[in-house]
Order: sequence, then structure tokens, then C-alpha cells
Amino acid sequence: MDDVILLNRTKSKAVGVALDISNAIPKNSDITIQGTDDYSKITNSEIVVITASIGIYFKNRNETIESQARMIKEIGKKIKKYCPESIILIISNPVDVLTYFFLKETNFSRNNVIGIASSLDSSRFRYYLSKELGVKQSQISNAFVFGEHGDSMVPIFSKAKIDGKKILEIINPTQKENITRNIRDYWRILRKLKSRSQFGIAKNTYDIIESIIKNKTISVPASVLLEGEFGEKDVCIGVPIKITSKQKIEIQFMDFNKSEKELFKKSAQTVRNNIKSV
Ligand code: 2OP
Repeated sequence: MDDVILLNRTKSKAVGVALDISNAIPKNSDITIQGTDDYSKITNSEIVVITASIGIYFKNRNETIESQARMIKEIGKKIKKYCPESIILIISNPVDVLTYFFLKETNFSRNNVIGIASSLDSSRFRYYLSKELGVKQSQISNAFVFGEHGDSMVPIFSKAKIDGKKILEIINPTQKENITRNIRDYWRILRKLKSRSQFGIAKNTYDIIESIIKNKTISVPASVLLEGEFGEKDVCIGVPIKITSKQKIEIQFMDFNKSEKELFKKSAQTVRNNIKSV
């Protein structure tokens, strides 16, 4: 049986949301949903998803970096106590920096902790490519965004394809620039129009959870601690990973072109500087 525990510092909110979601459980399902503010209730969960935030930011995801870093360290201490073996999916922003601090606080294996966001940026890349080229999203493949989940993110145009044909052979530099800016600013548009982004990140997180609990292999861009891969170390940043049926997280190698490599390097340095700024 799958049980979902919603944990929030405000118990009433967790209980309320759990009551609401309970009505969405299919009638032939044994899933239960409970709300709580008590960490002991999540003891030995298979997966822990961290979406916590101390408040809203408006200009960039690093605006609240210091308080978010303090928060993730506090959460890390409690998760280490109650869920030392769990797979941890971090959504809270700035996601790369928080994934790094979570790992440093808990000493968890880097194979158990992922920051989820580059897959969301990749969904946005696919969306804008389809809009720009006037085709269906299903005609676009290999639209990956790696690097920081922030202004230095790197859409990998050299790999993207439309109906199997290389997109770089079709689009011009201005289109590339526009798409890059649009993906980078997507969250700002959402913030202006509807406050928070929810559904895109929920679906991207769902796909990863499903692959873990159903023992399915998934290849996805996500933030993990690098130890020399892609020429970077001591930084968490979005790279291609694979979660295999043994719930093992592996970093996948992918060759970028020269300018993408340079942008990725700069992006890693940006995240490193943000980590140091705390
Ligand atoms: C997003 O990109 C805010 O990081 C969140 O939608």
C-alpha cells in the first residue's frame, strides 16, 4: 500500500491539503493521505520530496538563499534522524545550492539525493521549440536543459531534434536567443500571471517517483553532486542522470558542443559562487 504523508510546519495546512487530495484518490486505490507537522510520521519513507520554502521571491531564485539554506539544513537534520535510507528529491529553490547543502548537512550518499528542476526547464525548452517551429511537442526530441536551475541554465541545442532532424540546422541565432531567454524567464511569467508554478514541476516529480516505486528505468536531467564528471566537482548542478530499476542513480555522459561546454562551465561556477555566498 502507498501512503503519502504531507508534512508542513503549519499542521492545519497539511491536514487541510491532505483532506482535499483525499477526494482525488481513485475508488479502487488503497492509497492514504495524511497531513502532519510531526517528522516522526515520515519515518523510513521510501521517498521524501522537499518543497519547503520560507517565503516567496520575486526577482530571482537566490533572493532568499540564506534563509533557504538555513531551512534545508534544519530539515536535513530531521530527515537524517527519521529517514536515513530514503531517496530524497529536492524541489525547493535555489535547488542546486540546497541540494548541495542538504548533502553536506546529512552526509547522505550522492546517489540518494537529487534536485529536480532541469527536467522542468527541459519541458519548457520542448514547449518553446514546438512553438517557434510551429510543430507539435511530440515532434521534438532530445530537448535537454542542463546547468543551474537559474539564469545561467544551458539549453543543449546541439542535441535537440525535430522529427529526427537536427534543430541546429533549422533555427537561426535570433530564434536561439529568444528561446533561451524565454525558458530562463518562464517562472517569472508564471509568478506574474499566477503566483507559483505547480503543475509542470508536479508532473516532472511524479515521473521520477513513479520510476522509483515501480522499479522502472528513467533517464532525466537533474541536479546531482558532481565529483569530476563533466569536468566539475564539489557542486550540484543539472546533468543527465539515469535511475535504474535497482533505484540506483547514475550520472550519464553526454557530449556537448564547444559553446555549450563553456556555458556549462560558467553555470557550474555560478552555482559554486552562490554556495560560497551563504
Ligand atoms: C520554476 O522554475 C519557480 O523554480 C520554479 O517554476
